[in-house]
Amino acid sequence: MTANELRRKYIEFFVKQCGHKEISSASIIPENDPTVLFTTAGMHPLVPYFVGEPHPAGKRLTDVQKCVRTDDIDEVGDMTHCTFFEMLGNWSLGDYFKKEAIEFSYNFLTLPDEKGGLGFDIKNLAFSCFAGDSDAPRDDEAANAWKSFGISDERIAFLPKKNNWWGPAGKTGPCGPDTEMFYWTGEGSAPKKFDPDDANWVEIWNDVFMKYNKTAEGKYEPLAQTNVDTGMGFERTFAILQGKKSCFETELFTDAMTKLRILANYEKTESNLKSERIILDHLRAVTFIMGDNLGVTPSNVDQGYIVRRLARRAIRHGKILGINENFTDKIAEIFIEVYGDYYTELQKNRERILSELQKEEEKFANTIVRGEREFQRILPEVFEKKLDTIPGDVAFNLYETYGFPIELIEELAKEKSLKVDRKLFDEEYKKHQDMSRAGALQKFAGGLADHSEEVRKLHTATHLLNKALRQILGDHVYQKGSNITAERLRFDFSHPQKVTPEELAKIEAIVNEQIKANLPIHFEEMTVDEAKNKGAIGVFDAKYGDKVKVYFMGDFSKEICGGPHANNTGDLKSFKILKEEAVASGIRRIKAVIG
Ligand code: SER
Repeated sequence: MTANELRRKYIEFFVKQCGHKEISSASIIPENDPTVLFTTAGMHPLVPYFVGEPHPAGKRLTDVQKCVRTDDIDEVGDMTHCTFFEMLGNWSLGDYFKKEAIEFSYNFLTLPDEKGGLGFDIKNLAFSCFAGDSDAPRDDEAANAWKSFGISDERIAFLPKKNNWWGPAGKTGPCGPDTEMFYWTGEGSAPKKFDPDDANWVEIWNDVFMKYNKTAEGKYEPLAQTNVDTGMGFERTFAILQGKKSCFETELFTDAMTKLRILANYEKTESNLKSERIILDHLRAVTFIMGDNLGVTPSNVDQGYIVRRLARRAIRHGKILGINENFTDKIAEIFIEVYGDYYTELQKNRERILSELQKEEEKFANTIVRGEREFQRILPEVFEKKLDTIPGDVAFNLYETYGFPIELIEELAKEKSLKVDRKLFDEEYKKHQDMSRAGALQKFAGGLADHSEEVRKLHTATHLLNKALRQILGDHVYQKGSNITAERLRFDFSHPQKVTPEELAKIEAIVNEQIKANLPIHFEEMTVDEAKNKGAIGVFDAKYGDKVKVYFMGDFSKEICGGPHANNTGDLKSFKILKEEAVASGIRRIKAVIG
């Protein structure tokens, strides 16, 4: 059975044999739920319909939903964990409940191929049901339904809420007990008794009986409408059907794996398997997230940050495999091939996926080289002091100054048998976040969209521009506002009239000269008075506290500023003014780009 055949088979079974309507996968980026970054389960986009909203397609629905979960990201690399996965689902919105849901599941699992089922032998199946607690009773009803199909008591385990209860993680809303279905993947015939702790029993499907609403106070109230939410793990079921130990050995991954091994030019060994799986898992996820119609591109916030983190981790593991060229787009291309028939949005958004990956790989190549070098630099001191942990502020400095992701710092540390003081790192991070948030509120007093490399460079360009304006127009020029995104800078300043094209050309030329001069950039902390005496420009009021940071760009510019900046003016490559205009009486605005 091919992957497409399994998807079709599931949908057809529920449409033709159980009266469901097929709906298409919702976006992987939740459209109406700002509390989570991704669609994490098939039920997620349907929540409004569980609480009473009528669904246009009716009360019985079935679909294949694209999902992303990032909470298990550290587990990826083993046989079963995937960041991106597909969930096959059938849904009852206030229609059928426990007995029918279990009957449908049982039939789809066990009916022979010609009757539309998977043809699993019940000897290889086991089940778990909710054991009951003070919130809800033991689910004998579910167990009895399984037993009515000839399942023995020994193959049914009753487990607590931790295992057999489902609701959107840690949140309020619809939830309920579930029953889970397991398939024996071990050697030889399955043991008579089901042991849920034996990893050879792989969970493949979960039927949730949504009967409760969890309130903000943690109470479980009965829902007005009872629903069924089921999720069959597509990858796991497919691996079983193909007789493979893991989905990484199925047609979903084999072409990409072959390509990866050609790129790495090595013979397969066990120790590489983990890196290979991480690379393939992460790049597949990135392909789907960027290939979604609401797709996002790598950045330092929200979904974009996850994309960046996944892509960068894949790139680093590529280095571990000895791949020295850019490769992520080559792997993504294969996933677009493998999945593009079913998920046509991947074909449609192909150019975006590939070009964004190329860009990200280039950006990260520079960051890795710098970050690893700086990491090596901190080691002697750590070892000298006989520390087993890299101090949090040292790690934060690597992150903040070099953009080196904390996850990579931790991985490098682990390779040296060191830990990272994550608690202190997180504290520093939070402090810094609060500061940037405060900065974001006062849009025109710092105004950086984020601290990405592009934004830093444009921030540096702003200082050069500020100084050049003063040189050409005069000392009456003061910064009145600044707003910087990764694409452009916007700088407002005091000046009574239009800046002429000749003046603009001179200003632009001065900035470009300073870029060509490759001026080193550094900052020093000093009191406001010291800064004034050194001739620094900037806002001198007390809000900076006693000490201020002064950024120096060679001898050309000295300015009071919180940072961050590029390391060298040469990083900016070139500078171009796009526009000069008035924003208010006596205030002009320049928009400019670099590179
Ligand atoms: N929501 C349940 C799960 O994710 C069943 O679909 O497992």
